[in-house]
Amino acid sequence: MTKINKLVIPVAGLGTRFLPVTKGVPKEMLPIVSKPTIMILLEEAIDAGIEEVLFVINSRKECIKTFFEMEELYEGKVDDIKEITQSIKINYVYQEKPLGSGDAILKAKDFVGNNPFAIIYGDDLIKGKSAIKELIDDYDKYQSNIIGISKVDSKDLSKYGIIEFNENNEINRIIEKPNINEAPSNYAVLGRYIFNPEIFECLEQLKMQSKNEYQLTEAMTMLMKKQKFYGCKFSGKYFDIGSKIGYLKANIEYALDNDELSIELKEYLKNLSI
Ligand code: UTP
Repeated sequence: MTKINKLVIPVAGLGTRFLPVTKGVPKEMLPIVSKPTIMILLEEAIDAGIEEVLFVINSRKECIKTFFEMEELYEGKVDDIKEITQSIKINYVYQEKPLGSGDAILKAKDFVGNNPFAIIYGDDLIKGKSAIKELIDDYDKYQSNIIGISKVDSKDLSKYGIIEFNENNEINRIIEKPNINEAPSNYAVLGRYIFNPEIFECLEQLKMQSKNEYQLTEAMTMLMKKQKFYGCKFSGKYFDIGSKIGYLKANIEYALDNDELSIELKEYLKNLSI
């Protein structure tokens, strides 16, 4: 059985929904309590047995690289970062123009080689059990492409790729940002994937879509004609930290779980006159 040990995390987007801060700081580096999102994502990957990661960055996001470099100044003070760098090999590739998720993933072709691999989007946080581990467990069962899915509110259907799937969780269609009448289900594609390497042949054939972007969804649709795709209903709670409201909700929920903060924060929230 092929072991999934490589992961790609694209973090080279513009972050327009979270401007102006994202002009100066990558959204993937903004703190969830005191950890940047990318650190929590790597912990999820390590829990899943991933051994090597590739960040797709750009020259405005060099601080992501710096973050994982060990400096004497911090010796003994950042053991949790050290633990990560000792558990997973970190690599970088550049996507200088934000030409979409499809273009970002194509940059990982040489790193991935000819094996199935995992993707975690840099702005999609899932709190709870390692979601990418749950996808890998499904890959071991189905030996085919797996997409992380979860139910979303009807009012949010037009923000996501929405899937059409059967009772065996086999996906036969993804509709990008449908309106409520066109949506084939309430299940959205939420930033976790396991793909066979044939996805790269599809990414290479992509045509530019609206907004001058190459969309990963288009490549998935192409591969779906040749290979099976299954939805994995991950058990954790999803936060879109690329949106202001998602970021705020994530901070509150992670802080409520933090022994140092939860009592005072609960008291504070209770006393807010809202
Ligand atoms: P998003 O579409 O959520 O990110 O991409 P974005 O384009 O930065 O967001 P908005 O819409 O402008 O606010 C999901 C992930 O893919 C990365 C992003 O950094 C994010 O982590 N991405 C997106 C790339 O690496 N390259 C791209 O060209 C686009």
